[in-house]
Amino acid sequence: MPYKVPFVNYPEHYRRIWDEVLGAITEVLSRGDLILRDQLRHFEENIASFIGVKYAVGLNSGTDALYLSLKAAGLGPGDEVITVAHTFVASVAVIVHCGATPILIDVGEDHNMDVDQVEKAISPRTKAIMPVHLNGRLCDMGKLMKIAVKHNLIVIEDAAQALGASLDGKKAGSFGLTGCFSFYPAKILGTAGDGGILTTNSEDVAEKVRLLRDHGQRRATGDILFYGFNSRLDNLLAAILDVKLKHLPEWIERRRELAALYHRGLSKFSSVKLPPPSGSQNRYFDVFTNYVIRARERDRLVAYLKEQSIEVLISWPKPMHHHDALNLRHFKLPMTEQISSEVISLPLFPELSNQQIEFVIDTIHKFYRGTGNPCVKG
Ligand SMILES: Cc1ncc(COP(=O)(O)O)c(C=O)c1O
Repeated sequence: MPYKVPFVNYPEHYRRIWDEVLGAITEVLSRGDLILRDQLRHFEENIASFIGVKYAVGLNSGTDALYLSLKAAGLGPGDEVITVAHTFVASVAVIVHCGATPILIDVGEDHNMDVDQVEKAISPRTKAIMPVHLNGRLCDMGKLMKIAVKHNLIVIEDAAQALGASLDGKKAGSFGLTGCFSFYPAKILGTAGDGGILTTNSEDVAEKVRLLRDHGQRRATGDILFYGFNSRLDNLLAAILDVKLKHLPEWIERRRELAALYHRGLSKFSSVKLPPPSGSQNRYFDVFTNYVIRARERDRLVAYLKEQSIEVLISWPKPMHHHDALNLRHFKLPMTEQISSEVISLPLFPELSNQQIEFVIDTIHKFYRGTGNPCVKG
């Protein structure tokens, strides 16, 4: 039985833009333009201008955007990269794959890197900082960039969850040496498979990554400049993304409307912590890639919501540094551990109706009434 409120609804998403998507697919396939063609170039230009950077390079995933950022910046064995454990494993995996060492620090109440802990983690081997803008909310980049400049460190933004989000009017992916985005289907701008993009204002980095994604070949001359990878964003997927990019501002508005409904409906529960506020003068423009609440009785609440036909997700139930296979056990990250035991991602995507959100809110109300402890504020 399908959920009354699913976590994603791809068929409905595509139904609403079917003719445009089909038009793009037909054009690409009828011309046979499959690899590194015009649609990819157009999409790269359009997304660079949307984010406010000079260059964007389409890649086969967000993971590769992170990995090739580190490669292009020359990171390798002996180097340390400061990042967080409260993230998708890809953020840390790419550091290890480069031969560098991840140094994990804790997160704050906003679920993002606690920037006040960065300086303590810097050593003579530190080369880069990788903030992760989780759930569509920027990390405190003003403070972080000052620290990076002071210590001459590279910043690689893991912006996989933050396309369109901004701080003081400046968008995710435009602060660091590179910004790394994912087009995994469930992301705010998802494609029909895997995909990613790297953004930068550095012409050298853009050129290096264009070569890295295509085996180091300069196709015009046939020269191979170094050993590279096959990490191209398929032209067909880029064409679909270009169609969808035009809708992104309206989808972001809808996400923000739905988040505001959740906020109004849930803010009276003292036992539920909501996503962080937008700050004085609305400094943070959040895009709510995920709407993540925290609840102490998380596991019981999750079971109840699923019973009531609401699909929710936990990202991530076990903190990354507690997975023995990853060799990260030596990090002590109390806030990360606390958050991991409490987070629940509620359904939030533009095609959801207000009634579905109200149903989720009512169900959470019912859960707390049933526990005999409604925990209503004031
Ligand atoms: C924070 C974060 N970083 C990196 C990635 C990796 O992106 P991809 O799945 O496109 O490789 C993701 C995707 O889920 C992510 O959420």
